[in-house]
Amino acid sequence: MAKDDKFSVTPWTVTGKVDYDKLIKKFGTQSLDDNLKRRLEKLSNGSHVLIRRNTFFSHRDFDKVLDDIENGMGFFLYTGRGPSGPMHIGHIIPFVMTKWFQEKFKANVYIELTDDEKFLYDEKFSLDDSRKWSYENALDIIALGFDPDRTFIFQDTEYIKNMYPLAIKVAKKINYSLVKAVFGFKNETNVGMIFYPALQVIPTFFERKRCLIPAAIDQDPYWRIQRDLAEGFGYFKASAIHNKFLPPLTGPEGKMSASQPETAIYLSDGPEIVKKKIMKYAFSGGQATVELHRKYGGNPDLDVSFQWLKLFFEEDDAEVDRIEKEYRSGQMLTGELKEILINKINEFLEVHRAKREEAKETIKDFKVNGQLALKMWNTILE
Ligand code: TYM
Repeated sequence: MAKDDKFSVTPWTVTGKVDYDKLIKKFGTQSLDDNLKRRLEKLSNGSHVLIRRNTFFSHRDFDKVLDDIENGMGFFLYTGRGPSGPMHIGHIIPFVMTKWFQEKFKANVYIELTDDEKFLYDEKFSLDDSRKWSYENALDIIALGFDPDRTFIFQDTEYIKNMYPLAIKVAKKINYSLVKAVFGFKNETNVGMIFYPALQVIPTFFERKRCLIPAAIDQDPYWRIQRDLAEGFGYFKASAIHNKFLPPLTGPEGKMSASQPETAIYLSDGPEIVKKKIMKYAFSGGQATVELHRKYGGNPDLDVSFQWLKLFFEEDDAEVDRIEKEYRSGQMLTGELKEILINKINEFLEVHRAKREEAKETIKDFKVNGQLALKMWNTILE
């Protein structure tokens, strides 16, 4: 758990302005360096904006995944979502990355919907709500373009029967003092939460290949536990690539949070709402008046609109450079920068809405909570 005077990152909350270099040191991960990026580019015959821009900035054993691609062994992908409500544009970053890896390397993908975790974590949240949001979130995930023949989406409370035998074997090896140290559990923490980490570990054992997990860095504590246990059970230590958080609209501190509407753009927000939120809330690196802005220029490093364009929404590197230069020099005003972001997000969401509608039909082609996955997953029930 990273905690110091200025920021803290746990799987449930992020506070302060995250210093990602410090986090790499604290979590004991490695930076996703140019050498690895070049190897990936060569193997994938291309590059992805989320890797080029350092939105994915850190990893564990990603080099070993690249080795396994090179030596023909292959790998599988695992990621997830805690269905606590509507998804925002930060949540999809790991899924967009996962889908890209699936497409490039024809790898199987397992997506865990942790309806149990969200029910247990939030006192006010009902299990019915959590299940409803599982379905709604699954539509958003499918809309991102996963291959139905290679993707298994499962909800913990539905799929538990298949995971439980191995989950209790894993749970038996994790003692309370470990999860207390790793997750900061307290005496008041309910015992469901204390058991839950075993369930987030299990999908890394769905195949006897190396598992690559794209997720934000907040989920890394689970992988640390997994990596201590995996080999004892005859599986590989999980590999992970970690993304930064999309900062909240309201400023560079913390992370975009689904429970604070002014900090987030939801996938369900229509064009007018997107415009209104960005115009009203997007934290600006600009000067107080147009005159001062023209004279001194803006600060793109602080400006949330610019950061969102750079981290994810503007794929064209030359365009990002142009915007950065013009904003820094004062030639581009905050309003103009916001307008660029609004258009980008609305273009993205328009496509997303159409794909989400299609997903209501195509969801039945996916192996959601289904037995078909057992064909892929043939090791666990022994
Ligand atoms: P959840 O639902 O909190 O988040 C879903 C995924 O989104 C990442 N994330 C973000 N990425 C960028 N910017 C943000 N502002 C932002 N907020 C969240 C999270 O890291 C996550 O990857 N316990 C998990 C569910 C889960 C899971 C997994 C996640 C189960 N198995 C395996 C990743 C990998 C959760 O509640 O995620």
